[in-house]
Amino acid sequence: MFNSIRKEFPIISSSSFRKGIVYLDSSATTQKPQVVIDRIKQYYEKENANIHRGPYDLSLQATQYWLQAHESVAKFLNADSYEEIIFTRNSTEGLNFLANTIGKDLLKDGDIVVVSEMEHHSNIVSWMLLQKSIKFRIEYIPVKDNYTLDTDWFTALVKKYGKKIKIVSLVHISNVLGVKNNVEEIFKIAQSVNTFTVLDAAQSVARIRVDVKEINCDALVFSGHKVYGPTGSGVLYCKRKYLDKLIPWMGGGEMVSLVSKNGFEYNELPWKFEAGTPNIAGGIALGVAVDWLSKRVESVGGWESIVEHEQELIDFFLKQFDSIDWFKHFGPNNSKAKYGAIAFNIKGFTFRGCKDVTKVENDKRGESISEFLNKKRIAFREGYHCAEPLHDRFGVGPTVRFSLGIYNNREDVIYAANSLKEAVLSGLS
Ligand SMILES: Cc1ncc(COP(=O)(O)O)c(C=O)c1O
Repeated sequence: MFNSIRKEFPIISSSSFRKGIVYLDSSATTQKPQVVIDRIKQYYEKENANIHRGPYDLSLQATQYWLQAHESVAKFLNADSYEEIIFTRNSTEGLNFLANTIGKDLLKDGDIVVVSEMEHHSNIVSWMLLQKSIKFRIEYIPVKDNYTLDTDWFTALVKKYGKKIKIVSLVHISNVLGVKNNVEEIFKIAQSVNTFTVLDAAQSVARIRVDVKEINCDALVFSGHKVYGPTGSGVLYCKRKYLDKLIPWMGGGEMVSLVSKNGFEYNELPWKFEAGTPNIAGGIALGVAVDWLSKRVESVGGWESIVEHEQELIDFFLKQFDSIDWFKHFGPNNSKAKYGAIAFNIKGFTFRGCKDVTKVENDKRGESISEFLNKKRIAFREGYHCAEPLHDRFGVGPTVRFSLGIYNNREDVIYAANSLKEAVLSGLS
């Protein structure tokens, strides 16, 4: 079944374009199935018109598709209604949106925003920017040596500061360690003091079932391009009770129903938060992507099968390095605790961007390994993966990251493992 899904991705299955690419960079962006590519093409070939505004058929139809895409995402996340789904450009925009709306609304000098040590920079810097106008503190839930979040530390923080903790914003699945955080437990503790809870689901929505009701988060963000949808499309989910009251962070067309020299009235949800002409083709295709993914998940027997498939590949890959001392995996070795990403270091090599000058001077150049893998047509990452505080916490320099998507198979993983061994054992400098 997974093999037939793989065939739906032209960039992977077609030999005319990039012959035989081994795509292991799905945490950065996923490849797109034909149905998503076709939807974008169809929109521009036959359906292009601005939404909400035109009284003519093409515009009315585009508006209808835009609404349907919101409905598809609402169903995908099990939200109450499309009114709780705001289309953004990506997860980063969703997090900045929250900092600039709920952050501004809730935070006063002396308050606290809690994130964790394994956040993507977008869930750190968006709050740091807000600190320039409000003097709140950012606290980091420590990552324990076993790569889990320190819930006891958070419980103690809540006991000490109670309602001063206004927002908790956490990553669901780490884009480096591949671990899934126990966000349900942490959010429950947070909600005991009425803290607003945010889930960064950028890495989880394509890998596990994400149900906003089960998780019980107040807001959630994800990127369309990491869930087999187009770049420039993303989602912010937020409970309606907040959206009703929040002041948008952007004003302009689409988000108003009436404007005079003396003021304006808001449009209905969710359009109140979608100022300006959006990425219409991207949003419509995102709706197609999540519908497509839901169907494929069903066809393989549910989300458990997706997780199992990915964890089998991770396990298989890690086993290739079981007794190899130069391979330093960054994350739990138990593949059952891993989702999507495999980051690692290679003893004696330092990768691009390393901050430790002595390592840079003494080690071999990691770029030589990267160049070797690139020649082998492997798509992967090297660096801090926008999670520098996490690397700092463990004293780990830039890592190599292989990450998986629904289309990967054993051959990909064997090929990548063998290529890596070949690169290191050939003694590159
Ligand atoms: C966990 C996590 N959060 C946020 C982001 C930011 O996503 P985007 O660049 O699509 O905004 C990423 C991207 O890799 C991510 O992995």
